[in-house]
Amino acid sequence: FQEPAPLDLKKYIREIPDFPKPGILFYDISTLIRSAEAWQVATGRLARLIGTWKPDLLAGIESRGFLTAAPIAQRLGTGFTMLRKPGKLPGETISLKYGLEYGEDELHIQKDAIIPGQRVVVLDDLLATGGTLAASVELLRKAGAEVVGASVLIELTALKGRDKLDVPVNSLISYD
Ligand code: PRP
Ligand code: MG
Repeated sequence: FQEPAPLDLKKYIREIPDFPKPGILFYDISTLIRSAEAWQVATGRLARLIGTWKPDLLAGIESRGFLTAAPIAQRLGTGFTMLRKPGKLPGETISLKYGLEYGEDELHIQKDAIIPGQRVVVLDDLLATGGTLAASVELLRKAGAEVVGASVLIELTALKGRDKLDVPVNSLISYD
């Protein structure tokens, strides 16, 4: 994959203050994914990084993690599985509750989503405190995966989310 010209992906991320709550600066990827060129470049760069981990399968976290994982799985020629909020996946699931700053959340995966020992990379749009990705890694292991890495488009480095993870992490765009 050859990039047409070096592209500054940060220019495609829109910063929206006070969303979803006052005091939170939201990094909006809508402006990245609507640009055909920038989205090609972003998914191409991430695919190249993830490819070095030789995954058998990618896992995306609902919902913006799906957007990120699906095109990369296609580029790498792997399958793709979904980590979803409660009540969304049919059939038997394995789940994990995890703590948030306020309250609790829960993720599910279908019981037969992973062939035991498959090398899995988990993807999300953004790494903040790392709570979501840490829970996802744990859930994937419960489902039989060998988790070989975690990848995001955007990393908020000041929150040190990657310190919560015991797998290699790569990100494309970071903010302090
Ligand atoms: C956002 C983002 C990540 C998570 C990162 O999801 O999409 O999944 O927060 O935060 P953390 O590293 O502190 O866990 P959000 O909880 O806003 O839900 P959504 O993706 O369903 O909108
Ligand atoms: Mg999320």
